[in-house]
Amino acid sequence: MTLGLDDEDRRTASRLLAEFFDRYEQSVATAPIVPQVDRDVLAGLLADPFPDKGIGVEGLFRAINEKILPNSTKVAHPRFLAYVQGPPNGVAPYAEAIAATINQNCNFWQLSPAASVIERAVVSWLAGLFGYGEASGGILTSGGSVASLHALTTALHERRPEFRAAGLQTSGPALVVYTSGEAHRCIDKAVAILGLGLDNVRHIATDSGHRMRVDALAEAVRADRAAGREPFCVVATTGTVMSGAIDPIGPIADLCEREGLWLHIDGAYGGLFVLADRVHPAFDDCRRADSIALDPHKLLFAPLEAGCLLVRDRANLARAYAFKSAYLTVEDDPLMVDYMDFGPQLSRGFKALKVWSALQAFGVDSYRGVIDQVLQLAEHLRRRVEEDPNLELMAPVTLSAVCFRIKGWTEAQHAAVRATLAEDGTALLGPARLGGRHGLRACVTNYRTTYADIDLVVDRISELASCAS
Ligand SMILES: Cc1ncc(COP(=O)(O)O)c(C=O)c1O
Repeated sequence: MTLGLDDEDRRTASRLLAEFFDRYEQSVATAPIVPQVDRDVLAGLLADPFPDKGIGVEGLFRAINEKILPNSTKVAHPRFLAYVQGPPNGVAPYAEAIAATINQNCNFWQLSPAASVIERAVVSWLAGLFGYGEASGGILTSGGSVASLHALTTALHERRPEFRAAGLQTSGPALVVYTSGEAHRCIDKAVAILGLGLDNVRHIATDSGHRMRVDALAEAVRADRAAGREPFCVVATTGTVMSGAIDPIGPIADLCEREGLWLHIDGAYGGLFVLADRVHPAFDDCRRADSIALDPHKLLFAPLEAGCLLVRDRANLARAYAFKSAYLTVEDDPLMVDYMDFGPQLSRGFKALKVWSALQAFGVDSYRGVIDQVLQLAEHLRRRVEEDPNLELMAPVTLSAVCFRIKGWTEAQHAAVRATLAEDGTALLGPARLGGRHGLRACVTNYRTTYADIDLVVDRISELASCAS
């Protein structure tokens, strides 16, 4: 009995995998975006007992092709515009296979020397994009939510050094976190997980562009201090999930410096637009933040999962997460990082390989080009909406998210339009909710999307709007 493959099985698996890739690539733009889910097949996947005698490599690929693929959402489709999720870059599947083959454990460097250096190279490159200096560091995470959770954990340890020993059992004023009303819910979730209490989050009002209002932030901090609470952290967003708004980082950083508050930036959706010259200035002040959350599994087109936390001073991260243990002693090596000291995990996969591989294979200029193209497509969509008498924008278009509505239509009518678009294969769009109004949200996060795709979507929506009026 073995769990390995012999030479012949390995060749068969490689051939079947190559065929799978080819078929998938050819079907991306034509397959339904949202599958007509075969519930019987899915119920079978749930109920069928695992075989005592395996089905072998060919049987396995048959099951994948017949049962899994047809019941999977085509996130790579060029008109999959509902979420901030792109298709994986072309070398990603190969990098993933190689990572699984060499199976490096990225906890301490002896178990993963090259991987440790590669993760450090990826983190340093990302930190450099934001002007972070030599003292900075970070770690790849499963995503942006977890990166922000680690950021708040780190901020909490800095504010309350006794937190590790005494936990929440210390007295002292309630710590307060500030973020905008448009912030991603992962910030609330992090606050809840850390035991800080949702009652101690202030969702600061936004301006007409859906950016955090710094005057309202200052007032909230003042009011909390006056009430005996302890402001400790502001979470600004560079690219809100709904409309792509970028909070005014410079004035927020000024306030954080004045008030002695940790500044975390949630850049999970928008942070990597720093690579695009046309919006780069909006990110200039990010260098002043204490921490930044990013998502390479969004704009770097890494396959899930790949997030990243950057910290301006990596000693902060180590203070939150480093624990010594007698059975894991490794000598410090200035070239290599023990990532177990930068996060909660001990065993960790080699996520950095898929990010590194694509940067190597395609080069940074390819990313600059694709990210710029994504912005131009959103700009094209904005223009098309503005020119169409049936449609109106709901928010300024800052990045690649475009929120718009059919004039005079209700939430239910917009939901019906989304359902029609999904059913007839035009596109998958998300719902937009801003300032009490409802509409449609298209977010371009796909290097396969073209101007023709955008035109097709707008034409169809306009047609549906005209038919009904
Ligand atoms: C602004 C923002 N923050 C956080 C997240 C959560 O990121 P993840 O899904 O990688 O945890 C998202 C996801 O779209 C986001 O847009």
